[in-house]
Amino acid sequence: MRVLVGGGTGFVGTALTQLLRARGHEVTLVSRQPGPSRITWDALAKSGLPSCDAVVNLAGENILNPLRRWNETFQKEVVQSRLESTQMLAKAITEAPQPPQAWVLVTGVAYYRPSLTAEYDEDSPGGDFDFFSNLVTRWEAAARLPGHSTRQVVVRSGVVLGRGGGAIGHMLLPFRLGLGGPIGSGQQFFPWIHIVDLAGIVAHALEANHVQGILNGVAPAPTTTNADFARALASALGRPAFIPLPSIVVQAVFGRERAIMLLEGQKVVPRRTLATGYQYSFPELGAALKEVVA
Ligand SMILES: NC(=O)c1ccc[n+]([C@@H]2O[C@H](COP(=O)([O-])OP(=O)(O)OC[C@H]3O[C@@H](n4cnc5c(N)ncnc54)[C@H](OP(=O)(O)O)[C@@H]3O)[C@@H](O)[C@H]2O)c1
Repeated sequence: MRVLVGGGTGFVGTALTQLLRARGHEVTLVSRQPGPSRITWDALAKSGLPSCDAVVNLAGENILNPLRRWNETFQKEVVQSRLESTQMLAKAITEAPQPPQAWVLVTGVAYYRPSLTAEYDEDSPGGDFDFFSNLVTRWEAAARLPGHSTRQVVVRSGVVLGRGGGAIGHMLLPFRLGLGGPIGSGQQFFPWIHIVDLAGIVAHALEANHVQGILNGVAPAPTTTNADFARALASALGRPAFIPLPSIVVQAVFGRERAIMLLEGQKVVPRRTLATGYQYSFPELGAALKEVVA
């Protein structure tokens, strides 16, 4: 299969590209920067979709960059990078003389309202209560091609655990120093997925003709709380995790609205993902974290 991956230069894209190439697929990236095996977004806008069998979009300004203040300019970048890249790929698919077989977008579980009691699967309501849930709604709407022959899949990802990036990239140093601990109350759910499984679910969605619609990209162990995660990470590192990170500090660094991503969480089950036959490589948090910190 020839696969075109928007934003494929990033954390998830690097893992996905490796996996797809290992399975014998050909990968071309869409990036802001030109380079080998890449096209730019400008070239895509000008020349349309290059000949390919499947398209994925992973592009988006990094939301949890602690060096960026959560102001209007940054919020615009977070939204526009996702909506515009998704719209451009969707438009290119509709205009392609030979449309691809599959179109996969990765969004997030922020679609579901944080709760200490509710449990969400892919059919649960959401997408209409705060900045991030509204973003996911608009992002998924930008990808939708009603009645189109191309098979469409959206993977709503939890926090991606992998080496050399993502949220865990920021947490490793304090935890290694024995200064880690739960964030806020620690009682909030922590929907997570190992990067090998997120890449695996996207590859499965590309390859398996029966997969379509929404898939939750989370591990099948939905009862993990933030405190469980802190304990498991500390244990994988052989360190204590006694020092909680107070809500007020998280809000000061990230801004109130963005801090919700860390201070609140959802219990999300991958019911449809499992029903499509996807088999997880890292269903357990302990083993997933051991692999990440090894
Ligand atoms: N990592 C997670 O825990 C997680 C969880 C849930 C959902 N997701 C979603 O999954 C997708 C991939 O995540 P990731 O962690 O791999 O992301 P990432 O590494 O932060 O970024 C992916 C790519 O997006 C492109 N990009 C960044 N800022 C951009 C901008 N302002 N305009 C256009 N393109 C921009 C970059 O490609 P170029 O520099 O080559 O243009 C970058 O390599 C994202 O949409 C993210 O929201 C991630």
